Amino acid sequence: MTELKVPQNPLFVTQPLLPPLAEFIPYLQEIWENKQLTNNGPFHQQLEAELAAYLGVKHISLFTNGTIALVTALQALRITGEVITTPYSFVATAHSLLWNGIKPVFVDIDPNSMNLDPAKIEAAITPQTTAILPVHCYGHPCDVDRIEKIADNYGLKVIYDAAHAFGVQNAEGSILNHGDLSVLSFHATKVFNTFEGGAIVCHSEKDKRRIDHLKNFGFVDDATVVSLGINGKMSEVNAAFGLLQLKGIDVALAKRKRISDRYRAAFKDLKGLRYLEDVAGEVPNFAYFPVLLEDAYPIDRDTLFARLKQHNIFARRYFYPLITEFPMYRGLPSAEHGNLIVARQLASKVLCLPIFPALTDDSLELVIHLIKNAGEL
Ligand SMILES: Cc1ncc(COP(=O)(O)O)c(C=O)c1O
Repeated sequence: MTELKVPQNPLFVTQPLLPPLAEFIPYLQEIWENKQLTNNGPFHQQLEAELAAYLGVKHISLFTNGTIALVTALQALRITGEVITTPYSFVATAHSLLWNGIKPVFVDIDPNSMNLDPAKIEAAITPQTTAILPVHCYGHPCDVDRIEKIADNYGLKVIYDAAHAFGVQNAEGSILNHGDLSVLSFHATKVFNTFEGGAIVCHSEKDKRRIDHLKNFGFVDDATVVSLGINGKMSEVNAAFGLLQLKGIDVALAKRKRISDRYRAAFKDLKGLRYLEDVAGEVPNFAYFPVLLEDAYPIDRDTLFARLKQHNIFARRYFYPLITEFPMYRGLPSAEHGNLIVARQLASKVLCLPIFPALTDDSLELVIHLIKNAGEL
């Protein structure tokens, strides 16, 4: 066996996509010249138009980040009472409910998709339920048809937390066209980033207008405030950066795919390690590469996590702990362990491996080597 080299710089699970700085300067010059820094400026308008076209959606409203977009999406649809959601996500999903005074009702996930299990949703519906907030976890689409059917039957709204799902399609096109609204995050760690940023995707001009008012304090003109809005606006600098990012997004996605393909080929026959399978007709975005370490794998997840760290490789245990382990959620009846058996199991087995466009072959092969030889190291 060749000697393993510990990388000099830490290798993180992701690294932001940054185009050459020189390419960003002309955008900044333009902002300095026209002196419009925010409030639906020219770059903001251009990015909304270009993103709608790129993603294949009708309307998009940019936000300062995905969390404020989630909070606002719930306001836009006037959601109250109880909302069904997943414990297997980033904490912002559930936080957006609490910020609106809404009670989260956690439902277990499907062991294969790791998304909200549609078979378990109906049992959690009460007279107070007004909506479902599923997450396209790791960018893998939820079972949107079954969720839509349940929502239609019970008169519920559906807001997808699509923070991971930039560019993801199913057989019918963009996954963002499902549900009443979808929320994206453009945080630095995401496939497409604007440093900080986010967006709400909606299907009508009326919804877009309401969302645009809500993200600007509720102003409809300079003297009229019609709703309890917030400051959720994206600045011109962030929007300009988004326009530049968009130019390189297809190349970035292709690089991610190459890494994902390599991991899959390397782990295909590895005992005890499972990765998410492709679903026919889906266009994924390779945002994450989660692996599940089953009993047949020679060491447990936390031992592998620690061992990778010794080699300066910082994988992430997304999503451990479950949202329901945090103090503001753990007392809820739906947070009980017996209600979330699959989510709890997966949270103890999952490890997200480094995947980002600039990942070098050397680093990739080192990660693969360490994982394939975990029993002998
Ligand atoms: C599933 C999920 N929802 C919401 C968010 C919040 O997005 P932001 O960081 O842009 O506020 C994130 C990530 O950051 C996320 O992963």
